[in-house]
Amino acid sequence: MKKSAAKTFGILTSGGDCPGLNAAIRGVAKAAFGIYGMKIMGINNGYKGLIEGDVKILNPEDVSGILTKGGTILGTSREKPFKVSKGDDASTSSIKVDAIKDTYKRFGLDCIVVLGGNGTHNTAALLKNEGINVIGLPKTIDNDLYGTDITFGFHSAVDIATEAIDRLHSTAHSHNRVMVVEVMGHNAGWLALYAGVAGGGDVIVIPEIPYDIDSITRHLKKRAKGGKPFSIVVVAEGAISVEEAKMSKKEIKQKRASDNSPTAGYRIAKEIETSTGMDVRVSVLGYQQRGGAPSPYDRVIATQFGTAAAELLHLGDYGKMVAKENNSIIARPLEEIAGKLKLVPSDHTLIRDARFVGTCFGNE
Ligand code: F6P
Repeated sequence: MKKSAAKTFGILTSGGDCPGLNAAIRGVAKAAFGIYGMKIMGINNGYKGLIEGDVKILNPEDVSGILTKGGTILGTSREKPFKVSKGDDASTSSIKVDAIKDTYKRFGLDCIVVLGGNGTHNTAALLKNEGINVIGLPKTIDNDLYGTDITFGFHSAVDIATEAIDRLHSTAHSHNRVMVVEVMGHNAGWLALYAGVAGGGDVIVIPEIPYDIDSITRHLKKRAKGGKPFSIVVVAEGAISVEEAKMSKKEIKQKRASDNSPTAGYRIAKEIETSTGMDVRVSVLGYQQRGGAPSPYDRVIATQFGTAAAELLHLGDYGKMVAKENNSIIARPLEEIAGKLKLVPSDHTLIRDARFVGTCFGNE
Protein backbone atom coordinates (compact mmCIF):
# COMPACT_ATOMS: atom_id res chain seq x y z
CA MET A 1 0.00 0.00 0.00
CA LYS A 2 1.28 3.48 -0.89
CA LYS A 3 2.38 5.47 2.14
CA SER A 4 1.03 8.97 2.40
CA ALA A 5 1.90 11.64 4.94
CA ALA A 6 -0.74 12.46 7.53
CA LYS A 7 -2.35 15.88 7.18
CA THR A 8 -4.70 15.55 10.15
CA PHE A 9 -4.30 13.14 13.03
CA GLY A 10 -5.89 12.45 16.39
CA ILE A 11 -4.00 11.97 19.63
CA LEU A 12 -5.15 10.28 22.84
CA THR A 13 -3.78 9.05 26.15
CA SER A 14 -5.11 5.77 27.49
CA GLY A 15 -4.72 3.56 30.57
CA GLY A 16 -3.20 4.68 33.88
CA ASP A 17 -1.68 8.15 33.74
CA CYS A 18 1.99 8.76 34.44
CA PRO A 19 4.56 11.54 34.43
CA GLY A 20 5.71 12.34 30.89
CA LEU A 21 2.39 12.08 29.03
CA ASN A 22 2.22 15.82 28.47
CA ALA A 23 5.88 15.96 27.50
CA ALA A 24 5.19 13.30 24.86
CA ILE A 25 2.04 15.06 23.59
CA ARG A 26 4.12 18.24 23.31
CA GLY A 27 6.88 16.37 21.44
CA VAL A 28 4.45 14.98 18.86
CA ALA A 29 2.51 18.22 18.50
CA LYS A 30 5.35 20.72 18.33
CA ALA A 31 7.07 18.72 15.58
CA ALA A 32 3.79 18.07 13.77
CA PHE A 33 2.81 21.76 13.85
CA GLY A 34 6.18 23.40 13.46
CA ILE A 35 8.03 21.08 11.10
CA TYR A 36 5.28 19.34 9.15
CA GLY A 37 2.34 21.77 9.32
CA MET A 38 -0.19 19.12 10.33
CA LYS A 39 -3.60 19.58 11.95
CA ILE A 40 -4.12 17.85 15.31
CA MET A 41 -7.32 16.72 16.97
CA GLY A 42 -7.10 16.02 20.70
CA ILE A 43 -9.26 13.07 21.75
CA ASN A 44 -10.48 13.31 25.34
CA ASN A 45 -10.31 10.45 27.85
CA GLY A 46 -8.62 7.76 25.78
CA TYR A 47 -10.58 5.33 23.64
CA LYS A 48 -13.75 6.47 25.42
CA GLY A 49 -13.48 9.85 23.67
CA LEU A 50 -12.80 8.12 20.38
CA ILE A 51 -16.00 6.12 20.74
CA GLU A 52 -18.03 9.14 21.83
CA GLY A 53 -16.52 11.54 19.27
CA ASP A 54 -15.26 13.69 22.15
CA VAL A 55 -12.69 15.47 20.05
CA LYS A 56 -11.29 19.01 19.97
CA ILE A 57 -8.84 20.89 17.77
CA LEU A 58 -5.44 21.24 19.42
CA ASN A 59 -3.68 24.53 18.81
CA PRO A 60 0.01 25.30 19.38
CA GLU A 61 -0.82 27.22 22.57
CA ASP A 62 -2.52 24.10 23.99
CA VAL A 63 0.78 22.24 23.98
CA SER A 64 2.91 25.11 25.21
CA GLY A 65 4.08 25.10 28.84
CA ILE A 66 3.15 21.44 29.44
CA LEU A 67 6.59 19.78 29.36
CA THR A 68 6.84 19.59 33.13
CA LYS A 69 3.17 19.07 33.97
CA GLY A 70 2.01 15.81 35.54
CA GLY A 71 -1.09 13.95 34.35
CA THR A 72 -2.44 14.41 30.84
CA ILE A 73 -4.07 17.45 29.28
CA LEU A 74 -6.27 15.04 27.29
CA GLY A 75 -7.57 12.98 30.20
CA THR A 76 -7.48 9.20 30.17
CA SER A 77 -9.62 6.12 30.74
CA ARG A 78 -9.24 2.37 30.80
CA GLU A 79 -11.82 1.88 28.04
CA LYS A 80 -11.08 -1.23 25.94
CA PRO A 81 -13.43 -1.12 22.95
CA PHE A 82 -12.80 -4.72 21.86
CA LYS A 83 -13.36 -6.22 25.31
CA VAL A 84 -16.62 -8.00 25.94
CA SER A 85 -17.18 -7.90 29.69
CA LYS A 86 -19.41 -10.23 31.68
CA GLY A 87 -23.01 -9.21 31.19
CA ASP A 88 -22.27 -7.17 28.04
CA ASP A 89 -24.43 -7.67 25.02
CA ALA A 90 -22.45 -9.49 22.30
CA SER A 91 -22.88 -6.50 20.00
CA THR A 92 -21.39 -3.97 22.50
CA SER A 93 -17.89 -4.25 21.12
CA SER A 94 -18.87 -3.99 17.45
CA ILE A 95 -21.01 -0.93 18.23
CA LYS A 96 -17.97 0.70 19.86
CA VAL A 97 -15.66 -0.20 16.98
CA ASP A 98 -18.17 1.19 14.46
CA ALA A 99 -18.36 4.37 16.54
CA ILE A 100 -14.57 4.66 16.44
CA LYS A 101 -14.58 4.26 12.66
CA ASP A 102 -17.25 6.94 12.47
CA THR A 103 -15.21 9.39 14.60
CA TYR A 104 -12.11 8.63 12.52
CA LYS A 105 -13.98 9.42 9.29
CA ARG A 106 -16.03 12.34 10.61
CA PHE A 107 -12.99 14.26 11.82
CA GLY A 108 -10.96 13.45 8.70
CA LEU A 109 -8.21 11.64 10.60
CA ASP A 110 -5.35 10.05 8.71
CA CYS A 111 -4.00 8.39 11.85
CA ILE A 112 -4.48 8.18 15.61
CA VAL A 113 -1.47 8.51 17.90
CA VAL A 114 -2.07 6.55 21.10
CA LEU A 115 0.00 7.00 24.23
CA GLY A 116 -0.31 4.02 26.52
CA GLY A 117 0.81 0.70 27.89
CA ASN A 118 -0.11 -2.92 27.18
CA GLY A 119 -3.89 -2.58 27.01
CA THR A 120 -3.61 0.51 24.83
CA HIS A 121 -1.30 -1.21 22.35
CA ASN A 122 -3.41 -4.36 22.24
CA THR A 123 -6.34 -2.18 21.22
CA ALA A 124 -4.13 -0.29 18.74
CA ALA A 125 -3.15 -3.56 17.05
CA LEU A 126 -6.84 -4.56 16.76
CA LEU A 127 -7.72 -1.15 15.32
CA LYS A 128 -4.93 -1.63 12.78
CA ASN A 129 -6.65 -4.88 11.73
CA GLU A 130 -9.83 -2.87 11.26
CA GLY A 131 -8.05 -0.65 8.74
CA ILE A 132 -7.38 2.31 11.02
CA ASN A 133 -3.94 3.94 10.94
CA VAL A 134 -2.41 3.97 14.41
CA ILE A 135 0.96 4.92 15.91
CA GLY A 136 1.76 4.01 19.52
CA LEU A 137 3.99 5.64 22.11
CA PRO A 138 5.15 3.52 25.08
CA LYS A 139 4.18 4.80 28.51
CA THR A 140 3.75 3.11 31.86
CA ILE A 141 5.35 3.36 35.27
CA ASP A 142 5.50 -0.46 35.20
CA ASN A 143 8.00 -0.59 32.28
CA ASP A 144 6.41 -3.91 31.30
CA LEU A 145 5.60 -3.06 27.69
CA TYR A 146 7.07 -5.61 25.32
CA GLY A 147 9.20 -4.39 22.42
CA THR A 148 10.88 -1.41 24.07
CA ASP A 149 13.79 -1.22 26.50
CA ILE A 150 12.07 1.58 28.37
CA THR A 151 8.71 3.31 28.71
CA PHE A 152 8.32 6.91 29.77
CA GLY A 153 6.92 7.32 33.27
CA PHE A 154 9.03 4.52 34.67
CA HIS A 155 12.04 6.55 35.77
CA SER A 156 9.87 9.23 37.38
CA ALA A 157 8.13 6.52 39.40
CA VAL A 158 11.51 5.03 40.35
CA ASP A 159 12.58 8.47 41.59
CA ILE A 160 9.39 8.93 43.64
CA ALA A 161 9.58 5.44 45.15
CA THR A 162 13.29 5.81 45.90
CA GLU A 163 12.74 9.08 47.72
CA ALA A 164 9.99 7.44 49.76
CA ILE A 165 12.25 4.50 50.62
CA ASP A 166 14.99 6.92 51.71
CA ARG A 167 12.55 8.62 54.07
CA LEU A 168 11.26 5.30 55.41
CA HIS A 169 14.83 4.15 55.94
CA SER A 170 15.53 6.77 58.59
CA THR A 171 12.31 6.12 60.48
CA ALA A 172 12.87 2.34 60.30
CA HIS A 173 16.35 2.93 61.72
CA SER A 174 15.15 5.21 64.55
CA HIS A 175 12.54 2.70 65.74
CA ASN A 176 14.38 -0.52 64.92
CA ARG A 177 11.50 -1.57 62.75
CA VAL A 178 10.98 -3.56 59.62
CA MET A 179 9.40 -1.24 57.08
CA VAL A 180 7.50 -2.92 54.26
CA VAL A 181 7.20 -0.56 51.29
CA GLU A 182 4.70 -1.56 48.65
CA VAL A 183 5.20 -0.19 45.15
CA MET A 184 3.06 -0.64 42.04
CA GLY A 185 3.55 -3.46 39.55
CA HIS A 186 0.93 -6.19 39.25
CA ASN A 187 2.70 -8.39 36.74
CA ALA A 188 6.20 -7.01 36.53
CA GLY A 189 8.67 -6.10 39.23
CA TRP A 190 10.75 -3.49 37.36
CA LEU A 191 9.72 -0.66 39.67
CA ALA A 192 10.33 -2.67 42.85
CA LEU A 193 13.67 -3.86 41.50
CA TYR A 194 14.98 -0.44 40.46
CA ALA A 195 13.62 1.53 43.43
CA GLY A 196 14.63 -1.31 45.74
CA VAL A 197 18.22 -1.27 44.52
CA ALA A 198 18.36 2.55 44.44
CA GLY A 199 16.94 2.76 47.97
CA GLY A 200 19.15 0.01 49.36
CA GLY A 201 16.25 -2.36 50.07
CA ASP A 202 17.32 -5.31 52.21
CA VAL A 203 14.63 -7.52 50.67
CA ILE A 204 13.01 -7.03 47.26
CA VAL A 205 9.95 -9.08 46.39
CA ILE A 206 8.86 -9.11 42.74
CA PRO A 207 6.05 -11.07 41.04
CA GLU A 208 8.52 -12.91 38.79
CA ILE A 209 10.23 -14.54 41.79
CA PRO A 210 7.70 -16.23 44.11
CA TYR A 211 8.83 -15.65 47.67
CA ASP A 212 9.36 -18.08 50.51
CA ILE A 213 8.59 -16.25 53.76
CA ASP A 214 11.23 -18.33 55.57
CA SER A 215 13.88 -16.99 53.22
CA ILE A 216 12.80 -13.42 53.98
CA THR A 217 12.62 -13.87 57.75
CA ARG A 218 15.98 -15.70 57.83
CA HIS A 219 17.50 -12.67 56.12
CA LEU A 220 15.88 -10.19 58.51
CA LYS A 221 16.91 -12.18 61.58
CA LYS A 222 20.46 -12.45 60.28
CA ARG A 223 20.58 -8.68 59.85
CA ALA A 224 19.23 -8.16 63.37
CA LYS A 225 21.78 -10.58 64.79
CA GLY A 226 24.50 -8.70 62.91
CA GLY A 227 23.52 -5.45 64.66
CA LYS A 228 20.92 -4.15 62.22
CA PRO A 229 17.49 -4.62 63.81
CA PHE A 230 15.88 -2.41 61.17
CA SER A 231 15.21 -3.41 57.56
CA ILE A 232 13.52 -2.23 54.39
CA VAL A 233 11.41 -4.76 52.50
CA VAL A 234 10.34 -3.52 49.06
CA VAL A 235 7.30 -5.40 47.76
CA ALA A 236 5.70 -5.18 44.31
CA GLU A 237 1.90 -5.17 44.56
CA GLY A 238 1.77 -8.38 42.49
CA ALA A 239 4.09 -10.31 44.82
CA ILE A 240 3.18 -13.97 45.11
CA SER A 241 4.36 -16.65 47.50
CA VAL A 242 5.81 -20.01 46.50
CA GLU A 243 2.63 -21.72 47.76
CA GLU A 244 0.39 -19.34 45.81
CA ALA A 245 2.44 -19.88 42.65
CA LYS A 246 1.21 -23.49 42.69
CA MET A 247 -2.47 -22.48 43.00
CA SER A 248 -5.08 -21.53 40.44
CA LYS A 249 -6.21 -17.90 40.27
CA LYS A 250 -9.46 -18.88 41.97
CA GLU A 251 -7.67 -20.63 44.82
CA ILE A 252 -5.39 -17.63 45.36
CA LYS A 253 -8.43 -15.36 45.50
CA GLN A 254 -10.10 -17.59 48.11
CA LYS A 255 -6.94 -17.81 50.21
CA ARG A 256 -6.44 -14.06 50.18
CA ALA A 257 -10.07 -13.32 50.95
CA SER A 258 -9.74 -15.25 54.17
CA ASP A 259 -6.45 -13.75 55.38
CA ASN A 260 -7.77 -10.21 55.82
CA SER A 261 -4.76 -8.39 54.36
CA PRO A 262 -5.76 -5.71 51.87
CA THR A 263 -2.58 -5.85 49.75
CA ALA A 264 0.65 -7.78 49.21
CA GLY A 265 2.58 -5.44 51.52
CA TYR A 266 0.20 -6.09 54.42
CA ARG A 267 0.20 -9.81 53.71
CA ILE A 268 3.98 -10.06 53.82
CA ALA A 269 4.21 -7.75 56.85
CA LYS A 270 1.84 -10.00 58.79
CA GLU A 271 3.83 -13.08 57.82
CA ILE A 272 7.08 -11.42 58.97
CA GLU A 273 5.56 -10.27 62.26
CA THR A 274 4.05 -13.68 63.00
CA SER A 275 7.25 -15.51 62.25
CA THR A 276 9.81 -13.14 63.85
CA GLY A 277 7.95 -11.07 66.43
CA MET A 278 9.67 -8.00 64.96
CA ASP A 279 8.00 -4.63 64.93
CA VAL A 280 6.72 -4.23 61.35
CA ARG A 281 5.06 -1.29 59.61
CA VAL A 282 3.64 -0.98 56.12
CA SER A 283 3.69 1.92 53.69
CA VAL A 284 1.76 1.58 50.43
CA LEU A 285 3.00 4.26 48.03
CA GLY A 286 0.08 3.88 45.62
CA TYR A 287 -0.88 6.62 43.19
CA GLN A 288 1.85 9.01 44.36
CA GLN A 289 4.04 7.04 41.99
CA ARG A 290 1.98 8.21 39.03
CA GLY A 291 1.69 11.87 39.96
CA GLY A 292 3.68 15.06 39.60
CA ALA A 293 6.32 16.34 37.23
CA PRO A 294 8.27 13.91 35.04
CA SER A 295 11.95 13.35 35.82
CA PRO A 296 14.48 14.90 33.43
CA TYR A 297 15.10 11.45 31.92
CA ASP A 298 11.40 10.98 31.20
CA ARG A 299 11.13 14.47 29.71
CA VAL A 300 13.95 13.56 27.35
CA ILE A 301 12.62 10.18 26.19
CA ALA A 302 9.04 11.44 25.99
CA THR A 303 10.31 14.22 23.69
CA GLN A 304 12.32 11.73 21.63
CA PHE A 305 9.37 9.33 21.34
CA GLY A 306 6.99 12.17 20.51
CA THR A 307 9.09 13.70 17.76
CA ALA A 308 9.77 10.22 16.32
CA ALA A 309 5.99 9.71 16.10
CA ALA A 310 5.67 12.98 14.17
CA GLU A 311 8.29 11.72 11.73
CA LEU A 312 6.37 8.47 11.23
CA LEU A 313 3.21 10.51 10.59
CA HIS A 314 5.08 12.51 7.99
CA LEU A 315 6.37 9.33 6.34
CA GLY A 316 2.93 7.73 6.46
CA ASP A 317 4.60 4.83 8.26
CA TYR A 318 1.65 3.65 10.33
CA GLY A 319 0.80 0.59 12.42
CA LYS A 320 3.89 0.85 14.60
CA MET A 321 4.93 1.66 18.16
CA VAL A 322 7.89 3.95 18.73
CA ALA A 323 10.40 2.19 20.99
CA LYS A 324 13.86 2.40 22.42
CA GLU A 325 16.29 -0.38 21.68
CA ASN A 326 19.99 -0.36 22.55
CA ASN A 327 19.95 3.43 22.90
CA SER A 328 18.32 4.01 19.50
CA ILE A 329 14.78 5.15 18.81
CA ILE A 330 13.09 2.64 16.52
CA ALA A 331 9.56 1.73 15.39
CA ARG A 332 8.11 -1.76 15.77
CA PRO A 333 5.00 -3.24 14.11
CA LEU A 334 2.10 -3.34 16.58
CA GLU A 335 1.45 -7.02 15.94
CA GLU A 336 4.92 -7.84 17.32
CA ILE A 337 3.97 -6.20 20.62
CA ALA A 338 0.32 -7.02 21.18
CA GLY A 339 -0.51 -9.62 23.81
CA LYS A 340 3.00 -9.80 25.24
CA LEU A 341 4.46 -8.57 28.52
CA LYS A 342 8.05 -7.61 29.31
CA LEU A 343 8.75 -9.22 32.66
CA VAL A 344 11.96 -9.11 34.69
CA PRO A 345 14.01 -12.14 33.60
CA SER A 346 15.22 -14.15 36.58
CA ASP A 347 18.79 -13.88 35.27
CA HIS A 348 18.65 -10.08 34.94
CA THR A 349 22.03 -8.61 35.80
CA LEU A 350 20.50 -6.17 38.28
CA ILE A 351 19.15 -9.09 40.33
CA ARG A 352 22.62 -10.60 40.38
CA ASP A 353 24.21 -7.25 41.29
CA ALA A 354 21.67 -6.68 44.06
CA ARG A 355 22.44 -10.14 45.45
CA PHE A 356 26.13 -9.26 45.37
CA VAL A 357 25.44 -6.30 47.69
CA GLY A 358 23.45 -8.49 50.06
CA THR A 359 19.84 -8.07 48.90
CA CYS A 360 17.47 -10.96 49.47
CA PHE A 361 14.82 -11.78 46.82
CA GLY A 362 12.92 -14.23 48.99
CA ASN A 363 14.10 -17.34 47.21
CA GLU A 364 17.60 -17.86 48.62
O1 F6P B 1 -0.39 0.36 34.84
C1 F6P B 1 -0.02 1.31 35.76
C2 F6P B 1 -0.58 1.00 37.11
O2 F6P B 1 -0.28 2.08 37.95
C3 F6P B 1 -0.14 -0.30 37.75
O3 F6P B 1 1.14 -0.25 38.32
C4 F6P B 1 -1.22 -0.54 38.74
O4 F6P B 1 -1.29 -1.89 39.07
C5 F6P B 1 -2.45 -0.06 38.02
O5 F6P B 1 -1.99 0.87 37.06
C6 F6P B 1 -3.50 0.58 38.85
O6 F6P B 1 -4.62 0.78 38.04
P1 F6P B 1 -5.80 1.80 38.29
O7 F6P B 1 -5.32 3.16 37.89
O8 F6P B 1 -6.88 1.35 37.36
O9 F6P B 1 -6.17 1.73 39.73
